[in-house]
Amino acid sequence: QEVIHDELPGSEVIVVSNREPYIHDRDGDRIIVRRPASGLVTALEPIIRATRGVWIAHGSGSADRETVNASDRVAVPPEDPAYTLRRVWLTEEEENGYYYRFSNEGLWPLCHIAFVRPQFRREDWEIYRAVNQRFADTIVAEAKSKNPIVFVQDYHFALLPRMIRQRLPEATVITFWHIPWPNAEVFSICPWREEILDGLLGSSILGFHTRFHVNNFIESVDRFMESHIDRELSTISTGGEATLVNAYPISIEWPPRALLGLPTVGDCRRRVREQLGLGPDVKIGVGVERFDYTKGIPDRLRAVGILLERHPEWIGRFVFIQVAAPTRAKLDAYRGLQEEAMAVAETINARYARDGWKPIELIVRHHEPEEVLELFRAADFCVVTSLHDGMNLVAKEFVASREDDRGVLVLSTFAGASRELLEALLVNPYDMDTLAETLVRALSMSEEEQRDRMRLMRELVRDNNVYAWAGSMLMEAARMRKRREVQNHF
Ligand code: F6P
Repeated sequence: QEVIHDELPGSEVIVVSNREPYIHDRDGDRIIVRRPASGLVTALEPIIRATRGVWIAHGSGSADRETVNASDRVAVPPEDPAYTLRRVWLTEEEENGYYYRFSNEGLWPLCHIAFVRPQFRREDWEIYRAVNQRFADTIVAEAKSKNPIVFVQDYHFALLPRMIRQRLPEATVITFWHIPWPNAEVFSICPWREEILDGLLGSSILGFHTRFHVNNFIESVDRFMESHIDRELSTISTGGEATLVNAYPISIEWPPRALLGLPTVGDCRRRVREQLGLGPDVKIGVGVERFDYTKGIPDRLRAVGILLERHPEWIGRFVFIQVAAPTRAKLDAYRGLQEEAMAVAETINARYARDGWKPIELIVRHHEPEEVLELFRAADFCVVTSLHDGMNLVAKEFVASREDDRGVLVLSTFAGASRELLEALLVNPYDMDTLAETLVRALSMSEEEQRDRMRLMRELVRDNNVYAWAGSMLMEAARMRKRREVQNHF
């Protein structure tokens, strides 16, 4: 807010993402509001609240249309309106081609190293391009000034920055790519690689989570585009205005808003134990994510099985709770995953369950942020073993929830968060034997060691919070705008 107020006075801020921050669904006579399981929404919500701008997103809830006014806008959050949500209504064909297929069967596996073959089809590409154009039209319709700051989110909109630049040449376009960027060889699989690179280079600022992803992007441009790359300044120019390409590790609000009304850590522990019928001495491990093949859920459950086989002294003494929110269930790669994870959990439970105790609780449903934070507070350790992940905000939310300075984070070296949360127990999620031993280490860690590690991680998340993330990009944007003013003036 300070950056907007002091450095960008009077500037208009428009956020664009596929996923909307509030989904309105009809439940019989009632309309219920859900907040999606999305790292992107977790990060962006506090920023748009602070800037009181407009958020443009695909309206996906069954009752979304019932909530808008004549110009398709609704004030949100519903309980305390702070900004405007403008929905773009996509047809089923558009949603299938642009979201499910090109974005999530093509770009998603292309960018994540999870060994799922990317599928690229011309008809999906054409829909993807047309939907990007529809969002560009909506941005132009929503913009009140000729030079808004447009904050474009993620791989659903690779073509949008160039489209905005063509229609609003004075806009400052900040694009953030929330998932990894692969190396140039892998990226070259995409039949429309030049168009995607050119689309993104319409941005004034292009952000990735890590320097590694920035370097991969620069190498991709170097290999497939005519361009001038200044590696020292980290800028790329293809003729017009240069794009600043940099690493901005995303984060969360500090402290998370959902923590405010939550019971104490002790009460959370008691409540979760009561709900699951667990005694006070039974330790709890948790994993919370969308049911996505990049998250490494079946392997993590297998590691729990290995742990019990090798260390039978833990039988009956700990429970692993895996919360998995259904996601993208129309796609084959996702359907198979749920079946696989459930089969692994059933096999391990059948082998070790006794006297009303079972080692794995697999809960497949959406959880609201407060429920997730309550679980984190109740846990002795949290496991984030993504096979590949841009950042992973679950890791940071777990740390933020632990005001008691306790709890152990087990974290994949293939998540961007592992470059910052160095006091986590870092693991290779593909190495299930070592993962099992790391879980034992988490179960056995002294309170003193937990405290020392957790304190350092909490300091980092507190200082590098989501306001610092957005603030550093907005500061760059302010500098660019001032430079342009000087150039135009003299
Ligand atoms: O963080 C990556 C991301 O793809 C976000 O863009 C998205 O909000 C989140 O994962 C959840 O995915 P989806 O919006 O497809 O449910």
